[in-house]
Amino acid sequence: MSKVETSDTHFLNSFSVILGFLIFVAICLFVYARYLGRTQLEQQMTQQLQLRAVQQNVAPLARVAIAGQDNSALAVSTEPANAAPAADIPKTGKEAFEKVCTSCHTLGLNGAPKIGDHAAWGPRIAQGKAVLYQHALNGKGNMPARGGTNWPDATIRAAVDYMVSLNK
Ligand code: HEC
Repeated sequence: MSKVETSDTHFLNSFSVILGFLIFVAICLFVYARYLGRTQLEQQMTQQLQLRAVQQNVAPLARVAIAGQDNSALAVSTEPANAAPAADIPKTGKEAFEKVCTSCHTLGLNGAPKIGDHAAWGPRIAQGKAVLYQHALNGKGNMPARGGTNWPDATIRAAVDYMVSLNK
């Protein structure tokens, strides 16, 4: 009888040690998964800009016209090489914001003043629109010039106007 008892206690002891260990592992995995999820979110938010930069960097330098095929894509363009194709330029400040500016300004990445954070925007808006335009066009600290785009001045100004209107 006592032998059965000791083997039972022995089983229970090792069982709780194993169970404790498994719970510990599960907690570690949970914490790790949360950490991964957070860093991935940040990466995704900035990916749009990275993708654009990569596409620009790997664009072929030269293309070859082939006789008998449609070569219209090779037509010499008189636009400056770094100008965005007209179709890529947002038509409104809202559209510009939603395409690019939101990636930093909605979550407040890298110290970007967050949309809706009136304390962060108050003193910036108080500088006046001219200064805000200036900083959006030429960059400031971690704020890339034109938000990392090559959109024309008017588009960037419209995006600033839209952002200011969200934070009044
Ligand atoms: C890569 C992240 C990022 C993107 C994309 C981005 N911003 Fe910013 N922006 C910042 C950061 C960081 C700051 C804070 C800079 C500082 O005060 O040092 C900032 C600040 C600003 C300010 C305030 C400047 C001032 O004078 O205080 C304006 C206006 C602004 N951004 C407009 C824009 C517009 C418009 C776009 C889209 C075309 C854009 N941002 C896209 C990161 C970003």
